[in-house]
Amino acid sequence: MRDNNESSINLEDAYALETPDDNRNLYRTWASTYDDDFALRNKYVYPKSISSICAGLVDTTSQLSILDIGCGTGIVGTCLSELLITSIIDGVDISPEMLQVAQSKMRADANPVYSQLFEADLTKSISFADAKYDVAISAGTFTHGHLGPDALINVLSVVRPGGRMVVGINKEHFGANGFNASLQQAQVSKRISAPTFSEVQIYDEGSPHYGDLALVTTFLVLSPT
Ligand SMILES: C[S@@+](CC[C@H](N)C(=O)[O-])C[C@H]1O[C@@H](n2cnc3c(N)ncnc32)[C@H](O)[C@@H]1O
Repeated sequence: MRDNNESSINLEDAYALETPDDNRNLYRTWASTYDDDFALRNKYVYPKSISSICAGLVDTTSQLSILDIGCGTGIVGTCLSELLITSIIDGVDISPEMLQVAQSKMRADANPVYSQLFEADLTKSISFADAKYDVAISAGTFTHGHLGPDALINVLSVVRPGGRMVVGINKEHFGANGFNASLQQAQVSKRISAPTFSEVQIYDEGSPHYGDLALVTTFLVLSPT
């Protein structure tokens, strides 16, 4: 990967990452410009779509505890807080710089979007949350160069039995990296209910990346570990 300055980082750089340390390094530099230079400029609509899918599956009036997996600068949490007003949203990410931006995000009522933010590498054993969340959601993190199917199975442990996962996975990444087999295995061993899938655009019309698709999978976690 080339030596980046803030304005030269692009999607290809992010997709070419190989390790958690690569991710830490790229997002350290990208955090301050991610919202404007990446999300706004590329018409990144995925957080809004996945939040709508999530809101359509849960009781929008109850006080749900939700974990945003790979929350980055907090775009998913912000969209969710507009739809699930009474929810308590926490976030987790490997990048302290991305988390610092997420911490600054405010709800419409001027309270912080996120109640708690955790710095963690989700390829490793998870210690900050044990089967406590009603819902875990994720957009943009299960993609090329980031998290694969092992991490998806790893994060089941944060959801309470009977809680729900709503996880977006880049469609090409899904097909190339054995997500289907991992989900099937988790279903057969009764760790999760049968997953359902819907396809969403990651970027809106007019974006240079329009046409890139994600599969949003949703299922109940029956046995977190
Ligand atoms: C493309 S960003 C998506 C951020 C946010 N969800 C969004 O939609 O804007 C991917 C995020 O995954 C995080 N990430 C990458 N590898 C990770 C890992 N091993 N553990 C935890 N977070 C990771 C990155 O730090 C980054 O914030």
